[in-house]
Amino acid sequence: MDVFEAIKDRRSIRHFKPNPITDEQIEKILEAAIWAPSAGNLQARDYIVIKDHDTKKKLCESALNQHFIQEASINIVVCANEERSAWKYSGRGRELYCILDAAAAVQNILLAAHSLGLGACWIGAFNDGAVSKILNLPRGLKPIAIIPIGYPEQKPNPPPRFSLKDVSHINRYEAKRRTL
Ligand SMILES: Cc1cc2nc3c(=O)[nH]c(=O)nc-3n(C[C@H](O)[C@H](O)[C@H](O)COP(=O)(O)O)c2cc1C
Repeated sequence: MDVFEAIKDRRSIRHFKPNPITDEQIEKILEAAIWAPSAGNLQARDYIVIKDHDTKKKLCESALNQHFIQEASINIVVCANEERSAWKYSGRGRELYCILDAAAAVQNILLAAHSLGLGACWIGAFNDGAVSKILNLPRGLKPIAIIPIGYPEQKPNPPPRFSLKDVSHINRYEAKRRTL
């Protein structure tokens, strides 16, 4: 799949078929994640793969009961590793770079899943403390995204995007009226 096609055709999937995905597919997706860019190549992120039904159910409850978390074959929780980034970049590493490292990995995961014919969704609405407890995360590992992944049961229409002319600026920022 061409990269532009993958970027444009990828959609957030919130309904999944019950079919399980394979360990080989999971490995390919994680492989895509580790090749995402990171500040100073510190790769200040870790991945927790959730296959267990009970853990998915708890995660679902910690994320406003977004039902598709427990319907998905697996979930990947991407965590920012604050200490790994702070070691080199102090406060900017702890507060910003590790979050960006994790976010870049999330995007690669979404695109890789899509290119394998799978569906996924970036979930950011969850209770950090509850997720940390469920997954036994140590201090300094901050959950950034829950990503349910499975075979898609829907093909949503693309939601609108701002037009290029509304959000792009040449040489300096110019105030614009934006409409969707
Ligand atoms: C930081 C972030 C947090 C998000 N949190 C949620 C969420 O909690 N639940 C959800 O269903 N979608 C969530 N989304 C997905 C967005 O709703 C979705 O990307 C957006 O509506 C555009 O749709 P598309 O992904 O199909 O292009 C989140 C996306 C981002 C980037």
